[in-house]
Formats: sequence, structure tokens, C-alpha cells
Amino acid sequence: MQAGTGPRRVEARPVQAIAGAGQAAAESVVASCKTLDELEAALNAFDGGLLKRSAKNTVFADGTRGAPLMIVGEAPGADEDQQGKPFVGVSGQLLDKMLNASGMSRDKDVYISNVVPWRPLGNRTPDQAVITMCLPFIRKHIELAAPKAVLMLGGVSAKALLGTEDGITRLRGRWREIDIRGQKFAALPAYHPAYLLRQPALKGLAWRDLLAVKRKLQSS
Ligand code: URA
Repeated sequence: MQAGTGPRRVEARPVQAIAGAGQAAAESVVASCKTLDELEAALNAFDGGLLKRSAKNTVFADGTRGAPLMIVGEAPGADEDQQGKPFVGVSGQLLDKMLNASGMSRDKDVYISNVVPWRPLGNRTPDQAVITMCLPFIRKHIELAAPKAVLMLGGVSAKALLGTEDGITRLRGRWREIDIRGQKFAALPAYHPAYLLRQPALKGLAWRDLLAVKRKLQSS
């Protein structure tokens, strides 16, 4: 075959290479953020690729800045994307109910965000390339929010923040530490409320985890 006459082979760029570039850009953007307002502005200005372009909103956070508890979920769903706030759909309603029953609320003592600030297409679990790109933002977010404890809801959140491959069933209920630039944050993995809606028999364990969070906050 003569050169140039056959079908041209297009080399696919490996996903990890794209993620690496995104993560490096994210790392350099967050490095200069000194406040939550600066971080929110930086995230709004950040090129989050296809995911950001397909989302209606960048979902930064909800609840009380300076709260002792920071909750970190996975990513916005359709309701969150629409309203621009985390956990406002059905799983958020369950989360609020559980928080209120334990004597806590997002209006008072809870601050809430997600690992990924843009709704994944088709409500899929965010892929690893996206999580890797977004990780510098959520780590900086925790550092600047400076909570006494972090509650990681679901496997995506726990695995990303703890840097582990273990599943949520193995991780939940045991306190861990997240080290952010030498600062240590007590962090508890727990079941995601969306999972509890599908597996209501696990609500007892989730309740136990929430009470462990309350005890941690009271003792610190
Ligand atoms: N699920 C999440 O993990 N986060 C939200 O904000 C909503 C649903």
C-alpha cells in the first residue's frame, strides 16, 4: 500500500495521561487559594473538560462554613446539578433526616461537598480520570474548611480521600486519618444514603456511624 492512501491510524490518548494533565493543572490552581471563596472562584474558572461542559452547574458546597463536621459525597445527581447544591435530591433528604435525628443539621453544624463537583453523564459513577483530576480541589476544600471531622459517604469518596482500593463494606465504621500537607483530619467512611435507600437493612449501621461522629465532635 502506498504511504498516505490507507486509513489513518489515530492513536487514542491514554486516559491516565489526560487525567495527569488535569490533576497537575488542578494542583497548581489550588496552591494559590487561601480562602473558600478563592477556591470556589478557582473551581468555577477551571477547565473541567467534557464533564463540566455538560453540567448545568458547578456544585461547590452547602451548609455552614466553619462547621465542625464536613461531609463529602461522590458527585451531584440531576437535582443537585439543577439547583447547584449538594445532596438536595432523595438521598439528600435521607441524609438531612438522619442528621436531624442525631441533633445536627446543615444550617448549624454541617458543611457538605462532593469529590466531583460536576454531574457525571448519565448519573454514572465518576471515572478514575475525573476523580484524579478533582482530588486536589476536594483536598484543598477540606484544608480550608478545617473541620474537626470528615464523614465520607460511599466508596467513591472514601477510596479517593484515603487513597485505597478497599470497598466501603470493609472501610465503613473505622476512623482513619486524611493527611493534607501535614495537617491530619479524622475521617470516617460510611454508607452513602443512595445505597441505604436501596438497602434499608443497613440503616442501623449508618446510624451507628453517625453517632460515632457525634461522639468524636463532642470529645474534640
Ligand atoms: N450523591 C452524592 O454523592 N452527592 C450529591 O450531592 C448527591 C447525591
